Amino acid sequence: MLRRLYHEQPESFAFTPANQAWAEAQITKYPSGRQASAIIPLLWRAQEQEGWLSRPAIEHIAAMLDMAYIRALEVATFYFMFHLHPVGAVAHFQICGTTPCMLCGSEDLIAVCRDKIAPEPFQLSEDGKFSWEEVECLGACSNAPMAQVGKDYYEDLTPEGFAGLIDAMAAGEVPLPGPQNGRYASEPASGLTSLKEFESGRAQFNASVQLAADQRDTIKRIDGSEVPLTAPWHDLGANHAPAPSSVALNEEPVKITAKGATPKAAAPKPEPKAAAPKPAEPAPAKTETAPEAGTRPEALDGPRDGKADDLKKIKGVGPKLETLCNEMGFYHFDQIANWTEAEVAWVDDNLKGFKGRVSRDAWVEQAKLLAEGKETEFSTRVKKGEVY
Ligand code: FES
Repeated sequence: MLRRLYHEQPESFAFTPANQAWAEAQITKYPSGRQASAIIPLLWRAQEQEGWLSRPAIEHIAAMLDMAYIRALEVATFYFMFHLHPVGAVAHFQICGTTPCMLCGSEDLIAVCRDKIAPEPFQLSEDGKFSWEEVECLGACSNAPMAQVGKDYYEDLTPEGFAGLIDAMAAGEVPLPGPQNGRYASEPASGLTSLKEFESGRAQFNASVQLAADQRDTIKRIDGSEVPLTAPWHDLGANHAPAPSSVALNEEPVKITAKGATPKAAAPKPEPKAAAPKPAEPAPAKTETAPEAGTRPEALDGPRDGKADDLKKIKGVGPKLETLCNEMGFYHFDQIANWTEAEVAWVDDNLKGFKGRVSRDAWVEQAKLLAEGKETEFSTRVKKGEVY
């Protein structure tokens, strides 16, 4: 497909101050002289802000990364994830039309787009709210047919259900992404045939859908106030302080009012220059926040006898989660083993960046065995050094 810049371009582009800070923090991920590696996240953030990528946006980002404009343009025009045309103010539907999705009915979904949105790809609907295009395989073939909307996937679609999604979004709602036919993930349509023992203890939604349900930013224009602005790759536990205006992730329920896609007037185009990474904000003092769900389990000021258990023996707990647990006052298997349902709900809700992990990975069941001095299949592998 020929991918060219749109024939009408805005005068200029600028990130919101919060997005600019986020973008500068992204650049610190890469070694000196390799800042250009941040091109994709920065282009994506510009698209999340404006809905599409304009020429001034691409140039602005090239300047931030000290890249030749043509190099940034090459990236933006190569990847289909970048929209080079203005898109609907509420949502742009990317319908997968590759073979598995086609065999499962994607042509019927495209017919719905033509009927309810506009006859041609990238043509805005009459009210300007929606647009659509057909794309190649999006890697969710086992949940065909499917469509990407914003940053999420709607899977196992039917024409009727898809039409309902469009109607819901037109009414200001954002239906929960993921399988739309009752499947949990991509298990057989008739139900699990193996690993059934994990079915009862699993979280309400699969991890992708859970994140979408927690963040509810499927189609939201991102201005930077929604997410932490520090460098999350440094330490999710200690330095991952939400911006003061962060949206509470546990707000009810799944309704988001989308903003328009009109490009904003912005600051003059910057000259290419070396990026000036902002240092991450210092970690705030540890504070007690009011429980948002459930009951806060009893915490310790420090590990008993100065020696904490190796919580990484619990499957699903890595170094960052262990640090996060310790910061919350949880150091020992027996503490976790005794958590009640309400306490699990509290911890699940307060593991920022890892919400829902306690129930998803059945920490309590694992911790009970470990607290009794027994081993789990996973902890045995940790002991042998097979996992870290
Ligand atoms: Fe549609 Fe792969 S064929 S997601």
